[in-house]
Amino acid sequence: MRLLAIETSCDETSAAVICDGAVLSNVVSSQIKLHAEYGGVVPELASREHLRNLLPVIRAALNEANLSNAQLDAVAVTQGPGLPAALMVGFKGAQAFAFALRRPFLGINHHEAHLYSPWITGQPPRADFAAFQPNVSLIVSGGHTMLVHVPGELKHRVLGATIDDAAGECFDKIAKLIGLPYPGGPELDKLAAQGNPRAFDFPRPLLHEANDNFSFSGLKTSVRYFVRDHPHLLENGQSLRDLCASTQAAIVQVLVTKTMRAAKRLGVRCVTASGGVTCNSGLRNELAAACAKNGFTLRLAEKSLCTDNAAMIGILAERKLLAGHAPSPSDAEINVGWALA
Ligand code: KG4
Ligand code: ZN
Repeated sequence: MRLLAIETSCDETSAAVICDGAVLSNVVSSQIKLHAEYGGVVPELASREHLRNLLPVIRAALNEANLSNAQLDAVAVTQGPGLPAALMVGFKGAQAFAFALRRPFLGINHHEAHLYSPWITGQPPRADFAAFQPNVSLIVSGGHTMLVHVPGELKHRVLGATIDDAAGECFDKIAKLIGLPYPGGPELDKLAAQGNPRAFDFPRPLLHEANDNFSFSGLKTSVRYFVRDHPHLLENGQSLRDLCASTQAAIVQVLVTKTMRAAKRLGVRCVTASGGVTCNSGLRNELAAACAKNGFTLRLAEKSLCTDNAAMIGILAERKLLAGHAPSPSDAEINVGWALA
């Protein structure tokens, strides 16, 4: 099956062409620079930028895959959750495209698609479903933090999620607090690499609670007060690096401990992770160490596929259509708050 997939749920305009589990192209136009000036994603600007970029990105994806519109068998798109004005652009564009081509059209849950990005590997990238194992999947980005049990292909159950800020939001807000440029997560990660993670002791929220939920706003507040009370630390390069390493260690320890605990409880032998924060070197290293210690297989999404992309939307959509999943009705609408069950 040759399938065009589109993703515009937040600040990345992306189009991918999938063919029988292979990613023939995956074009991503990021708006990070546009939003940097405002310190966060501005929905109205995101929407306008998606409108500007959608057709060129689709054209580039088809060109790279060496396919014409007429050679496509299906069209898939992120239906939710996401920013309404951003989702709308990709969703209505995909719907119109499928309608004009008289091809089936499938709306996909963005979070469900994240569950499959760790299985996309190699060059050219392919979905390695032959290696699929029941797993516990950590989805960590600027907008979401959740743990999901994936007992089989196309099956899932959400175990827990953040009750306030997402992990990426926590990284970004702490980074801003200590004067790093937006988006601060990657900057904080770089400084943390040369800092002492045990220099300062920050809270590990919900670490010992017997549930799979997360909370990061208290940690952010704790760092805010700490910085207010010790402003001189920001002027010293090594103290700043220690502060970064210590905050990163707190976030990572909570994510890793709760993920491993859930995996053990559910009896799975595999852990996966995706979402922008999965680029974090501390998280990658600690998940690898914890999985090695417990004899678990670890599948981390490749860095280019951690952040939002249409390849993961297309891989899931193709799998669903091949499994007999019904296409979406031609008058379907976006589902802004579409919670994964
Ligand atoms: O998945 P993503 O591109 O977008 C959504 O939020 O949906 O994730 C972006 C988030 C931002 O919060 C960014 O700071 C964080 O991922 N991030 C990182 C790193 N790279 C990206 N956080 C910590 N360390 C990193 N290396
Ligand atoms: Zn995402």
